[in-house]
Amino acid sequence: MFSVHWWEKFDIVEFRAPSCVAKELDESDTKVALDICTVGHSKPCRATGDILDLHVRKREVPRTIWGNMINVQKVREQTPGCEERIHFNNAGSSLPPTPVVDTVVGYLREEARVGGYELAALREEDLERTYETLARLIGADPQAVSRAENATRAWDMAFYSVDFQRGDTILTTFTEYCANYVAYLQMRKKRGIRIEVVDDDDSGQLDLGDLERKLKRGAKMVTINHIPTNSGLVNPAEEVGKLSKEFGSMYLLDACQSVGQLPLDVEKLRCDFLSTTGRKFLRAPRGTGFLYMRPEVLEDLEPPFLDAWAASYTEDDYTPHLDRRRFETFEFSHANFLGLGAATEYAMDIGLNNIWSRVQNLSRNLRDRLSEIDGIGVRDLGETKCGIVTFEVDGVDHTQLKDKLISQGVNVSVTSQFNALLDMKRRGFVSLMRASVHYYNTTEEIDRFVDILRMLQQSE
Ligand SMILES: Cc1ncc(COP(=O)(O)O)c(C=O)c1O
Repeated sequence: MFSVHWWEKFDIVEFRAPSCVAKELDESDTKVALDICTVGHSKPCRATGDILDLHVRKREVPRTIWGNMINVQKVREQTPGCEERIHFNNAGSSLPPTPVVDTVVGYLREEARVGGYELAALREEDLERTYETLARLIGADPQAVSRAENATRAWDMAFYSVDFQRGDTILTTFTEYCANYVAYLQMRKKRGIRIEVVDDDDSGQLDLGDLERKLKRGAKMVTINHIPTNSGLVNPAEEVGKLSKEFGSMYLLDACQSVGQLPLDVEKLRCDFLSTTGRKFLRAPRGTGFLYMRPEVLEDLEPPFLDAWAASYTEDDYTPHLDRRRFETFEFSHANFLGLGAATEYAMDIGLNNIWSRVQNLSRNLRDRLSEIDGIGVRDLGETKCGIVTFEVDGVDHTQLKDKLISQGVNVSVTSQFNALLDMKRRGFVSLMRASVHYYNTTEEIDRFVDILRMLQQSE
């Protein structure tokens, strides 16, 4: 279907594919992960389209070439959980692939043999390489990426580092995640900030016009999610970044549901901070996450907690480090952090464009199939939709339905007012079913899921 050969200059792959849309790359693009098509073009090109994409990292020959489509059989073989169940709870926590599990378990075994501190010293290079891998995933410098134990703590370290003053405005979305919203309320109580919610546009995503109007009045920070916990929508994060910079506001992006699901580049996003977890679309172990912070803003930020890893100190004073340590603590799970690195390598070997196009195809298929069923209403909004599919089932308790599905071997979740209060209340939902697909899921699984749903509906 297509041919592949190395193009030495950039260590990138050239490939041919029918019906590709190709855009010429500029120099800055060559810094990061590349998806390249040179057919018919004098310069390297980024290729997008349904049936192509080869992922290659600059300077290194990739370990795996996945070709224009994901080798689904192979990724499923490397995901043992797929044999036992249909896992449609990837927005909760996805199934880690074998190389990730082997990395974590292998490290723990070594720790037990060699000693925790001693092994950390021996594996220093691997730990450093993990930062480099995370940085490459989002187009950042490795010194701009701090490890965290989850997305909330990563986000907190950014948000609570800002010296908010009485009257400062933060702009957020209706779909804001529960933990972030509680932090806004706390900051309002303690420091007197103003919380303003940007309207949605007709599609249901954040309204850029309203954002601009609100930014004109002045805002300290724009703080939004890229993909909400309770909907399939993808907010226009790059356009939000552009506007935030134009009006001189800080920009904190909660990318918890988007990292690992779609390609991200902090330069294009123009965010000052980006927080995420490892366990969702990156397929890393639970208890992992990271924070990106733009180096230029570092100096002005004092984290809410500092330890002697994050700052140097004397008897009388302390100085927070001007690098990623500023937001970290000394102690962390080395095994999990390396697992996060392995998961990120795995995702990049497959290619974020490949992942994104397959996730979108699968979720589109799932939405279509669900829409055919009487008594089921798909509730996803937004111009661009992702792997999260939310729906209502008439006359059924969603939590009970979720439990029945789990007992039938299908993992789904329920999202409720607890998770995204403003949005759920406004739209009049107490809860919604949430089925979230990843690239290792299949259309056969969707068919089976739909059959089981119909069967459970009939037995009500
Ligand atoms: C949009 C969004 N932000 C933040 C979080 C919090 O992530 P964590 O549980 O890793 O702190 C979640 C978790 O579901 C989420 O969906």
